[in-house]
Amino acid sequence: SVPVENVQALASKGLKEVPPRYLRATSELSEVWETESLEIPVIDINKLAEDHPDHSDEIEKFHLACKEWGFFQLINHGISEEFIHQLKKETEEFFKLPLEEKKNYDQLPNSIEGYGQAFVVSEDQKLDWGDMLFLLAQPASQRNLRFWPKNPASFRATLDSYSSELVRILPFLLRAMAKNLGVSPDVLASMFEEGTQGIRLNFYPPCKQANEVMGLAPHSDATGLTLLTQLNDVDGLQIKKSGKWLPIKPLPRAFIVNVGDVIEIMSNGQYKSIEHRGVVHPEKERFSIAAFHSPNMQAKIGPLPDLAGKSGAQYKTSTHEDYVRTVVASKLDGKSLLDQFRLSDA
Ligand code: SIN
Ligand code: FE2
Repeated sequence: SVPVENVQALASKGLKEVPPRYLRATSELSEVWETESLEIPVIDINKLAEDHPDHSDEIEKFHLACKEWGFFQLINHGISEEFIHQLKKETEEFFKLPLEEKKNYDQLPNSIEGYGQAFVVSEDQKLDWGDMLFLLAQPASQRNLRFWPKNPASFRATLDSYSSELVRILPFLLRAMAKNLGVSPDVLASMFEEGTQGIRLNFYPPCKQANEVMGLAPHSDATGLTLLTQLNDVDGLQIKKSGKWLPIKPLPRAFIVNVGDVIEIMSNGQYKSIEHRGVVHPEKERFSIAAFHSPNMQAKIGPLPDLAGKSGAQYKTSTHEDYVRTVVASKLDGKSLLDQFRLSDA
């Protein structure tokens, strides 16, 4: 990736005008908005359990959420409010450290890990109004601790607990998906066992020209399943629903979960990896943490054989390594990445 200026530092300069590389074309900005007050589905993880009295209703709702929305809010996930509060506090503290100190964790050339900006692959690419710290958190044996903040002092331990708590939640969702897709119950969960988890801490400074910049460019997630927590009450996530942008209002304590490209591919297109983006606030800063989950390196990235057998494969099958190589070489650009794996019907 190409190193670019730190947005927090840029924002604090109090420039009269945002530099042109951050300003988006009017065609990108004057877009169609969802005017109905739609809300994404809310899934109660307890009700997904086979022995819960509401199981059959909830699992049906879950299937529709994955098929028609690709996004849902997850409640009752068992991660305490106190813990999320701590995570929030420490994340803020990290981003508020002097730039000199954060530089210790800077992204290195050709790596997405570390402190910096997202997916800058060329010198002329438009830039996002946000800074991030990206960590490979699982498999734990592959952690690169040089990128894990030493300050605040308990931050590494907090991130470590957060990482394992999410890994604990994941199989419940993957088993429910397998059930809904009609494939053997553990097929997805076993592919994600010892899988990879990337954790991205996002900081979006306020921007006076908030309507002309983008916090995070429109994209679909290249990974399998994303669990997002917004750390303060400043909203900014928007999803594309039937061609219109829909702002998401997270419920207190809920995770926003979305199907990524890998699950779309594995479900042979039944589940949808939806385009989304992050916008920024004119006066308030925004923090969020996204955790991206992918299968283990042995898993092939392709439609599950049982599903491809029925209707014909809609996507190529690649080794995980080849898949990742393609992802890393791409910038965030709507659903263009997924298109590279789509098989044409012709
Ligand atoms: C966010 O809501 O801040 C991030 C959304 C994303 O990771 O795509
Ligand atoms: Fe995303």
